[in-house]
Amino acid sequence: MASDDVPEKIYPLGYEPQESPDASDPNVRNNLLDFILKSGPTEIVDTDLFAVMAKRRSTRKFSDNPVETIKIDKIIAAADTAPTAGNFQGFEIFYIKSPEKKKLLVEACNKQPYVDAPVVLIFCKNPSRVKFDFPDYILKKFAIQDATLAAGYSQLAAQALGLSSIWIGMFDEQKVMDIIKTDLVPSSVLCIGYPEQTKFPKSRRNLKDLVHVIW
Ligand SMILES: Cc1cc2nc3c(=O)[nH]c(=O)nc-3n(C[C@H](O)[C@H](O)[C@H](O)COP(=O)(O)O)c2cc1C
Repeated sequence: MASDDVPEKIYPLGYEPQESPDASDPNVRNNLLDFILKSGPTEIVDTDLFAVMAKRRSTRKFSDNPVETIKIDKIIAAADTAPTAGNFQGFEIFYIKSPEKKKLLVEACNKQPYVDAPVVLIFCKNPSRVKFDFPDYILKKFAIQDATLAAGYSQLAAQALGLSSIWIGMFDEQKVMDIIKTDLVPSSVLCIGYPEQTKFPKSRRNLKDLVHVIW
């Protein structure tokens, strides 16, 4: 503890939010989260959710431009706003900074070269956080939904911040777990950066074919 009433701020080695509240009130649970969500960047960010959704397009070629720390903070904070089963937050985010580990991840992700992206986040399931008195398979089901939804929120946040991303689902779970040294099973790898080229969104099947109305 830094003093009697102000808790010391401790972040994972290599990750510290660019900005954090000066006076951290321990009674305000979402202090840092709210602060990051409300703070910069000062450049224009797309705040129209539907425009963000309409424009999003996966990118597999990223420019070398580094992603600003405040944007990474916001992408991570966005994940933390997603709903989770019972609000137990049955997922963890691994933020890969090591270039060597990114190279190993390319290999673990079926040799997909773009996994070596400026920002690589691995979303893992953590069913042990889901404290419902339900069978194990239900807790696992909740954890995969928690992790997937959180990654989806991050993906949209990245788009809103002028970035692009690729969702990686094709990977060897055990290899990824060995690389990041965890016993938590990954659900997705989200690779983010500035796109080399902005592309038009892909087409989808007709919306009316997607919806099945049950009376
Ligand atoms: C569950 C899931 C798994 C995916 N796995 C991969 C992958 O391993 N490699 C890849 O290049 N793209 C992967 N993608 C990206 C999809 O190919 C992409 O989202 C899809 O073609 C639609 O394009 P869009 O994102 O531009 O709309 C995955 C997407 C999802 C949702």
